[in-house]
Amino acid sequence: MTAILPPDARGLAEAARLLRAGALVAIPTETVYGLAADATSDAAVAAIYAAKGRPTFNPLIIHVADHAAAERLGRFDPLSRQLAASFWPGPLTLILPRAADCPVSLLASAGLDTLALRVPAHDLTRDLIAAAERPLAAPSANPSGRVSPTTADHVLSGLQGRIAAVLDGGACPIGVESTIVQVLDGRAHVLRPGGLDRAALEAAAGPVVTTAAMVDARSGGAPVSPGQLASHYAPRARLRLNARSVAPDEALLAFGPEPLSGARATINLSPAGDTTEAASRLFAALRALDRPDIAGIAVMPIPDMGLGEAVNDRLTRAAAPRG
Ligand code: TXA
Ligand code: MG
Repeated sequence: MTAILPPDARGLAEAARLLRAGALVAIPTETVYGLAADATSDAAVAAIYAAKGRPTFNPLIIHVADHAAAERLGRFDPLSRQLAASFWPGPLTLILPRAADCPVSLLASAGLDTLALRVPAHDLTRDLIAAAERPLAAPSANPSGRVSPTTADHVLSGLQGRIAAVLDGGACPIGVESTIVQVLDGRAHVLRPGGLDRAALEAAAGPVVTTAAMVDARSGGAPVSPGQLASHYAPRARLRLNARSVAPDEALLAFGPEPLSGARATINLSPAGDTTEAASRLFAALRALDRPDIAGIAVMPIPDMGLGEAVNDRLTRAAAPRG
């Protein structure tokens, strides 16, 4: 059985106790729910991969309570330090070389000599990390390849019985995963667009480079990890992007003030045309429309501005042919 823990002092203490004991606990963050375990324990990290059914070569994000804790795990260059100062706590993950005495399990970074680090903005998450007194490894709390969870119910629908507990912090306010950045040769490379939008990043870091594949400094920047599998974040139903019309047996994921009519079921990500609101509703909407009685999901065009870039990245992956 998976316990549902309330977001109060008692729930927090129980979640921390379970994590210290090496158990798996799903935790809320400002982006999506994470499937957390003690990042310093090989056994606990291995249990994450087992519960998710995730290929073990896909490395995990390490969550810490503050920037100072991150400095003990990774080696910061000046631009990474500036980005951390600007955006932590918040939806930014930095890829950094491991510090010499880094206690994080090698399994968590899947053999790379770099580490993905982030300080979550959610107070509850940081309080839990502080109470657990260790960094937490946490991928999104969904079975591998499925849509990321933004509520405790979503977590249970995928992982019920496979994890010790879920800390119920309500709906995640941002709704898409963190933006992943790696500084190479003094420039910020975006490895995954996410909850921190490009304009904010460029205001702090200057022009950024988008790099679709995960890279490893050791190999001079060549892609070494398949971190971003093409087919990812996938509902069972087939997605049709940039739809200008919709069939009666399709579901419609709409955007903006003029949704197409005639679909079997419709969810509008943002009638006002706001990409931040659309991001916060994206994964719940994909789950709700993923019904057996529809032929597929038609998706109206969504502009790339603001969090629209992350929304379109996730939709493109969800629409990719299944491998
Ligand atoms: O918002 C988020 O980032 C959420 C919450 C729970 O924090 N977490 C999340 O984790 O989305 P996950 O495991 O679903 O995605 C982690 C991504 C993967 O694409 C992985 O390949 C990449 O981070 N990653 C992790 N370590 C890396 C490294 N050393 N080098 C390059 N990419 C790395
Ligand atoms: Mg994920």
